Amino acid sequence: MRIAVPRESAAGERRVALVPDAVARLEGAGFDVAVERGAGFEAGFADDAYTEARASVVSGEALYRDAAAVVRVAPPSAEEVDALAPGTILIGFLDPLGDPARIERLTARGIDAFAMESVPRITRAQSMDALSSQSTVAGYKAVILAADRLPRLFPLLMTAAGTVAPAKVLVLGAGVAGLQAIATARRLGAVVSAFDTRPVVQEQVESLGATFLDLGVRGVETEGGYAVELSAEQQSQQQSALEDRIVDVDVVVTTALIPGRPAPLLIPASAVERMRHGSVIVDLAAETGGNCELTEPGSEIVRCGVTIVGLTNLAATMPYHASQLYARNVSALLQHLAPNGELALDLADEITAGTRVTRSGVAA
Ligand code: NAI
Repeated sequence: MRIAVPRESAAGERRVALVPDAVARLEGAGFDVAVERGAGFEAGFADDAYTEARASVVSGEALYRDAAAVVRVAPPSAEEVDALAPGTILIGFLDPLGDPARIERLTARGIDAFAMESVPRITRAQSMDALSSQSTVAGYKAVILAADRLPRLFPLLMTAAGTVAPAKVLVLGAGVAGLQAIATARRLGAVVSAFDTRPVVQEQVESLGATFLDLGVRGVETEGGYAVELSAEQQSQQQSALEDRIVDVDVVVTTALIPGRPAPLLIPASAVERMRHGSVIVDLAAETGGNCELTEPGSEIVRCGVTIVGLTNLAATMPYHASQLYARNVSALLQHLAPNGELALDLADEITAGTRVTRSGVAA
C-alpha cells in the first residue's frame, strides 16, 4: 500500500505527518512511502533522511500517483481535496466539528477520510491519540512563552544581591495541555495553582506539586472523560471567584475547552484590569474563541499592562518533536486500518468507525 506525505501548505504549519524514523518502520511493515520534496524541511528533517529511510522523495503530481492513502497534519484546502483521487484514504486533523463543509466536500469527492480529532479516547487507541500528543507540546510551549514574556524570573533565587520571589502561575483547565503546563511551570521553579471543573483532576494536579483551587464550582464529566458545559449561573460564579484570585498571580495559562462548543469564558475584561502590570495570560483556547474576553486569536496584545498571548497552533512552533509524536500516532492508525500494509477496514471496530468522518470511498 502506497502512502503519500505532502508538504503542509497551511499558514504557519511547520509539522510533517511522517518523520524519517516512522517511514523506516512503515517500510519495514509492508508500506511504500512517497514524500513530497521539502515536506520535512521546516520540522528539521531533510529529504536525504527520508531517502535513507527508503521513502521515494518526489515532486508535483508524482506524489499522489498510485497513492492509496494520503497522510497530513492540517486539513487540506479545497484545491488539495480536488487533487485527491476518488477512493483515496485521507488521514489528518480534519476539524470535523468545526468545518463540516470540508467533510461534505471530501465525501462528494469519494474520499475515505479519517480525522485524528475523532480517534476515540480509549486505552486501545492511546498510541493514536494525536489530540493528546499535540496538547502536550502546546502545554509546554505555553509556559515557555509566558516565561519569556514575563518581566520576572520564574524560580526562587537567593543570591548575594538579594532574594527573588518565585513567580505565581495559575493554570485553568487541567486536561492534557494543562497538566503539561503545570509540570513545565513547576520545573522552572514557579509556584503553581490550577483549577478544572472536573473534580477527578484534583489528585493529578496535586501529584504534580500544584495546589488545586477551590472556586466553589464543581462540574460533571461525560463518560468519555470530557467536561460538560457549566450552567450560566455556575459560569458567573466561576468568573467572580477567579477575579478575586487572579490579582495575585503573575501568569495565567488557560486551556479550558468543551468539545464542539466555543471555549468557556473564564477571564472577563474586568479581571484583566485587576491584574498586576507586566502579568501574562497565555490563552491556549484562542482557536475556539479564547478563555479570556480580551484574547485576539492569532495575536499577542497588551491590555491594561497585561500581555495576552492568543497565538494558535502552538504545537506547530515546536515542529520537530510535535511531528515525531504525531508520526507515531498516524503510523499506529495506519497500521490499524491496514495491518501488514494491506487495507482491511473493519467498520464494526470502534476505532475505525469512530475515526472515519466520511461515509463514501473504497469501503462504502
Ligand atoms: P479538553 O482539551 O477538551 O479540555 C481541557 C480541560 O478544560 C479539560 O480538563 C476540561 O475539564 C477543562 N474545562 C472545561 N471547562 C472548564 C471550565 N469552565 N473551567 C475550567 N476547566 C474547564 O480536554 P483534554 O485535555 O483533551 O482531555 C480531557 C480528558 O479526556 C482527560 O483528562 C481524560 O479524562 C480524557 N482523556 C483520555 C485519554 C485516554 O483514555 N486515552 C487520553 C486523553 C484524554
